[in-house]
Amino acid sequence: KGILQYRGIDVFNLVTEKSYLEVAYLLFKGTFPSVKELTMMKTLIFAHSNVDKYVQRFFQNYSYLSTMNLLSIGITLIKEPTDIDDFERFCFYLAKHKVLCSYLFDPQHTRISFSEDYCEDFAYLSLNKKDNSITKILNALLIIHADHEQNCSTTSLRVIASSKASLKNALSGALLALSGPLHGGANEEVINMLQMITQDRSDIKKYIEKAKDKEDKFLLMGFGHRVYKNFDPRATIIKELSHEFFSKNNITDSLLNTALLLEKAALEDSYFISKYLYPNVDFYSGILYKALKIPTHNFTPMFSLGRMAGWLT
Ligand code: ACO
Repeated sequence: KGILQYRGIDVFNLVTEKSYLEVAYLLFKGTFPSVKELTMMKTLIFAHSNVDKYVQRFFQNYSYLSTMNLLSIGITLIKEPTDIDDFERFCFYLAKHKVLCSYLFDPQHTRISFSEDYCEDFAYLSLNKKDNSITKILNALLIIHADHEQNCSTTSLRVIASSKASLKNALSGALLALSGPLHGGANEEVINMLQMITQDRSDIKKYIEKAKDKEDKFLLMGFGHRVYKNFDPRATIIKELSHEFFSKNNITDSLLNTALLLEKAALEDSYFISKYLYPNVDFYSGILYKALKIPTHNFTPMFSLGRMAGWLT
């Protein structure tokens, strides 16, 4: 039906009314936090928002690795305290992953955490931005990506954890599963595809035909989903966010135009209609990340930043 709910609550309402940490708490505990509980959660996360120097050096020394490999290995280097309860462990990994992801943007770690607001802090650590409109978009993006039932990376995580392997080893495996182009890695592939089509005089018809041709390996990246056979509600939210951000900031982007033309052509084509192929979350997320000046190799890490709440839950 194209509906996404976390704990029975529609993701549309969560995006407009809640913060990422409130949603993370909802996933983990099943209810929204009280003011006091949210304050405690923020304090815990802020207290854990640091990572030992040797982990940072790993990111610097092995910068030739892909960003998802850096995150996957990086998380296993973290020393987890033994005397914390499950909720603090949840906060611990949300905090550490935020810092590890920020290393991908700023390997020298020139900035330190300043805000108990998760998205505001990440925007500063990674993008050096203290800007409400960016915080608001990051908040929406992280909520949209926070959980998605028994998908590939969550399945991987649960299989690993079923052997009683450590939580960080299970998270490490989930990060690797997410990196694949048919899963979280699709957001990078969408931008590569839109760039290729735009450079090829935006010849939409040619690429629609290529995607339909069974002899051709080309697929419309960002189209189709294992579960949604109607539409992906996350794609609708991101499309609206992109329009709002682009018009507010007077940005014109040829890739957005190509994406709109491609979407329209595919949705009118009997091949895509008959196979229930619609834009998924990754079709527009890359365009928005690009507008936020996030480099392509950090798109999938951005996905993982939100998904950490679902995996940990
Ligand atoms: N472009 C063209 N044809 C497609 C596409 C596409 N994007 N997706 C599926 N098809 C076709 C297949 O070729 C197949 O055709 P056939 O019946 O003639 O053999 C039919 O549609 C069904 O495809 P499956 O791969 O069996 O569908 P499934 O539900 O298993 O796969 C998947 C879903 C992996 C997402 C697929 O649609 C795909 O590869 N999409 C492109 C990659 C992508 O955007 N991934 C991100 C998913 S969202 C996420 O993980 C966060």
